[in-house]
Amino acid sequence: MKIGILSRNRNLYSTRRLSQAAHTHGHEVVIIDTMSIAVEMGIAESAAQIKVIQTALIPRTTYLPQVDAIIPRIGASITSYGLAVVRQFEGQGVRTTATASAIDCSRDKLHSLQMMARAGLPIPKTAVIARSEALFPALQAVNGPPAILKSSRGTQGHEVILATSLQTAQAAFQRLRRLGPQVLVQEFVAEAEGKDTRVIVVGQQCVAAMERSASRGEFRANLHLGGTAVPITIDPQTKKLALAAARAHDLHVAGVDLIYSQRGPLLLEVNSSPGLQGIETATQVDIAAHIISFLETDQPGDKQKRRSQKSKRRR
Ligand SMILES: Nc1ncnc2c1ncn2[C@@H]1O[C@H](COP(=O)(O)OP(=O)(O)O)[C@@H](O)[C@H]1O
Ligand SMILES: [Mg+2]
Repeated sequence: MKIGILSRNRNLYSTRRLSQAAHTHGHEVVIIDTMSIAVEMGIAESAAQIKVIQTALIPRTTYLPQVDAIIPRIGASITSYGLAVVRQFEGQGVRTTATASAIDCSRDKLHSLQMMARAGLPIPKTAVIARSEALFPALQAVNGPPAILKSSRGTQGHEVILATSLQTAQAAFQRLRRLGPQVLVQEFVAEAEGKDTRVIVVGQQCVAAMERSASRGEFRANLHLGGTAVPITIDPQTKKLALAAARAHDLHVAGVDLIYSQRGPLLLEVNSSPGLQGIETATQVDIAAHIISFLETDQPGDKQKRRSQKSKRRR
């Protein structure tokens, strides 16, 4: 197969590992800088073309070779453009570990929680508000304060705030409101004691899991904030929830985060391009190889797709 990895930087750990694993499995790899792609529509006679603009001193344009599959690693700062590029590949029948709509849904915590709630999955009590007048009732609804306030599009724990009083909640609301039209007010799961669980789902399998612990004086377990990780074996219930959460987002590869409350495991968020460094280091599982193996296996609907592509070519 020819596998395209959409990544802004070929030196990133995850990009390097995926590329290595693909080579080991005998595939060709093209690392595609998402922002260097130009898509042309309604210009050529054929369907839309995907071009790569190489920005050296003299810009050079080449057509991207046809790839069989892509692995989108779209950073949060380029989500919108990245989604357009992924959609383009999808339109050409290229297999992807995550569709544009799945990435879009998982990037938005509110949308993601709505999908999980709709699927009947357990999540922390959450209210979403847009005006400061709604803050007090929202805090009451989630049994706070204390409560967690978070932005719908934050990453790496940066926009997640623990408010211990109405005053601190008001200040947090004002700060988060500047970042987007809505603010999530969430039940504080104090009994988690700064721990959460990351499960990596590939296809229909949970291939690795780690427990992250927040650093001293911190409630957020993110590794970027100094959290530490240890490998764990997850129980059948957690496994079931992680698989169901990935399915609810229609993601074939997902990093599913859970937190353990008194009433059992709750789903926190689902990541469509989970970082591989932290979890591969903690668990010693070759997750990159699992992802490549997944791309090699036939998925439901593949045979049908191939048949229709064949008949299109014959016409
Ligand atoms: N409702 C909550 N109760 C307790 N801790 C939480 C809660 N929500 C988030 N956290 C902690 O904060 C961390 C970051 O929150 P998360 O929602 O995953 O945002 P981000 O996308 O920025 O990582 C989580 O990994 C968890 O440790
Ligand atoms: Mg998180």
